[in-house]
Amino acid sequence: MAMERTLILLKPDAVQRRLAGRLIARFEDKGLRIVGLKMIRVTPELSREHYAEHVNKGFYPLLEEFITSGPVVALVAEGPQAIGVVRAMLGPTNGRDAAPGTIRGDYGLSRQMNLVHGSDGPEAAQREIAIYFRPGELLDYETTLGGWVCADDEK
Ligand code: RTP
Ligand code: MG
Repeated sequence: MAMERTLILLKPDAVQRRLAGRLIARFEDKGLRIVGLKMIRVTPELSREHYAEHVNKGFYPLLEEFITSGPVVALVAEGPQAIGVVRAMLGPTNGRDAAPGTIRGDYGLSRQMNLVHGSDGPEAAQREIAIYFRPGELLDYETTLGGWVCADDEK
């Protein structure tokens, strides 16, 4: 089974609502390993690069205004099938449609202010991690409890 890395962003609404610690804890509790972590302010240029697929959509100006409106926490999480696992933890885009138990379902009521971004596939993950992190900012390490999170043939 493939170990994957995925980009997670705690968006400005998550930071402003002081949910960052709680949300990071959910990813830790799941068993994912955090291999990169920083707080940054997304610039309009960075937003256009990250959300390249949305730049020409009608909602893009509001998305850019939102994502640049305050600090975000960027992290890279690693684990077996981490990309899909994180997307499932987020729930659908609109918090009003998201089931309880998902992050957007537990904390959100909005389509735009949906708290957390997660890469939606392997190519996106690779591209987005490279946008937010230099290789030297990602750490390879073992956790003592790693052996109790999944079996060797699942890694
Ligand atoms: P994300 O990329 O942030 O993880 O979210 P997603 O895949 O669930 O949603 P996506 O379709 O990629 O949209 C990116 C972000 O743009 C905002 N959005 N606004 N006003 C609108 O119609 C609209 N649609 C999307 C949301 O913040 C969404 O997360
Ligand atoms: Mg997306």
